[in-house]
Order: sequence, then structure tokens, then C-alpha cells
Amino acid sequence: MTAVDRYAVAGNPVAHSRSPDIHAAFAAQTGQSLVYERLLCPLDAFANTVQAFAATGGRGCNITVPFKFEAHDLAARLSPRARLAGAVNTLRFDAEGWFGDNTDGAGLLRDIEHNAQRPLAGRRVLLLGAGGASAGVLGSLISARPAEVQVANRSADKAESLRASHQALATEMGVKLSASNLQDCGSGFDVLINGTSASLAGAAVPVGPEALAPQALVIDMMYGPAAAPFLDWARSQGAEARDGLGMLVEQAAEAFEIWRGRRPDTAPVLHSLRQAIDKKPTP
Ligand code: ATR
Repeated sequence: MTAVDRYAVAGNPVAHSRSPDIHAAFAAQTGQSLVYERLLCPLDAFANTVQAFAATGGRGCNITVPFKFEAHDLAARLSPRARLAGAVNTLRFDAEGWFGDNTDGAGLLRDIEHNAQRPLAGRRVLLLGAGGASAGVLGSLISARPAEVQVANRSADKAESLRASHQALATEMGVKLSASNLQDCGSGFDVLINGTSASLAGAAVPVGPEALAPQALVIDMMYGPAAAPFLDWARSQGAEARDGLGMLVEQAAEAFEIWRGRRPDTAPVLHSLRQAIDKKPTP
């Protein structure tokens, strides 16, 4: 009897993760036999936990907060986009050495350009934050050849180091790339992406309405209550607001393809996930 292939989302915490539902839906849709679990890793034992999983039938895992940088160091081989991001959200346990990739940026880009129907070519993009979330997506944003990407962060030095690490790609793509603090981020952006964790800390929206061009698209990489204040603000300014659920499903589809060689159809999975999340609790 052949053991079923195992996959997991590794993080701390992981109880809230929607990835098991998403991958179960992809597996059913594509007729693949696999199980997808939650792997809670002690903060000081990420590598040991993932190695034990690989030794007991694990074929790969997704990595979430706070282990994406550790996962990068654990991979024997990296995709160019994972190397550029310095972070890994997908590991495939290949016999010849673990392969590390980062599908977050591709997921965000697909959500913007395909799901929201907003091609980035020639547009002006403002990316808020310079932590792990922003590092994971900046390369993909640049690759879409917008006219400009500005990275704005509370600590300007972190924005500047993200700019520096991505400057060669921006030059190659003909994209103007700049860095600033939040106060000097400029105005009139077509697309505003929130990659900060400001709302988790209950902090106010970190930029003013002048940051937005008319009919701007505003995306928070989070979803659920954490994204609500930022998206409410965006709507109150007349912008189109999108949470991170589309990005979540799209990055998962990209990971599924890396593992299984099949590209699932994301639209029905996003639709049912949205319904599950929006469903009001019965009184
Ligand atoms: P993640 O992996 O989720 O990106 P992180 O690496 O800790 O987490 O990064 C958090 C980001 O949110 C950082 O850009 C942080 O700004 P600093 O680099 O200045 O710390 C940003 N952030 C967190 N709280 C914020 C707040 N109250 N206002 C503005 N930015 C905030």
C-alpha cells in the first residue's frame, strides 16, 4: 500500500490558517490524492519540526509567519524570486535537496491583474511596509512593469534596503523604484498595497488620502477583521478596496502547481472561501 502524500502549512500560530481548506479543494478539483495539515512549530524548533514531517511522508510545506526567513536558509536550492525576496513560503522536499520558492508575489500579482482586472503596466504603485510581507511581493510587482513603485515605511532605512536589493531588477524592467518614510510617500498612486502590520497593532491608516489617485485600487495583504479599518478608509475615499483573500488563494495555487504539476482553477475556491468567511454567525 502506498502512503498518501502529505503537505502542511508550517507556522506559529497556524490554527487560523485557511490553507488546509484551500488545498483540499484544489486536490478534489484536480483528482489528486493528498492530505494537507497544520504543522505548529515551536518558535525555537522550526527546522526540526519540518525535518520530522519530511521523514514521515511529508512531500512539501507552505511556510507562514514567522518562519519564512528560516525556511529560506533551510532550502538547498532557491528559485530566483525566493532568492530576491530573501524569504520562502513554499518548500518541496526533493530527494536531491529541498527546493525553496516564494509564491506570494505571483499570488498578489494574479489577484490584481486577473481577478481585479487591473493591469499594472504603466501604473504608479505605492507599497506600504518593508517587512517580510513587502519583501515577498516587491519583485513580482516590479516584474509587471509599472511606471513606478515607491516603497514607504515607518523606518525609512528598511524601505531603502528593500529598494537597494531590488534596484537591479527595476533597472532591467525600466521601472522607477524609490524609497521613503510614510510622511513623504507622495500622492496620486493608482494602486496602494498595505504590507504593514499597523492595523494588527490597532494603529491608524499610515498615509493620507492624497496618496490615492481617483478610482485607485487599494489592497490590504491581510483579510478578516485585521484588514477592515484600512479597507473601510479606502472605500470612504472612493477607492476600490480588496483584502488579501484573493492573494492567499492565488499563492496557494502556485504552490500546488510546484508540488503537483497541476494548476487548479482558483475562482470557485475563492468564491466558497469568501462565503465561509462572510457568513454571519447564526443567532
Ligand atoms: P511581516 O512579516 O508581516 O511583514 P514584519 O517583518 O515585522 O512583519 O514587518 C511589519 C511591517 O509593518 C514593517 O514594515 C513595520 O514598520 P517598521 O519597519 O518601521 O517597524 C510596519 N508597521 C508595524 N506597525 C506599524 C505602525 N503602527 N505604523 C506603520 N507601520 C507599521
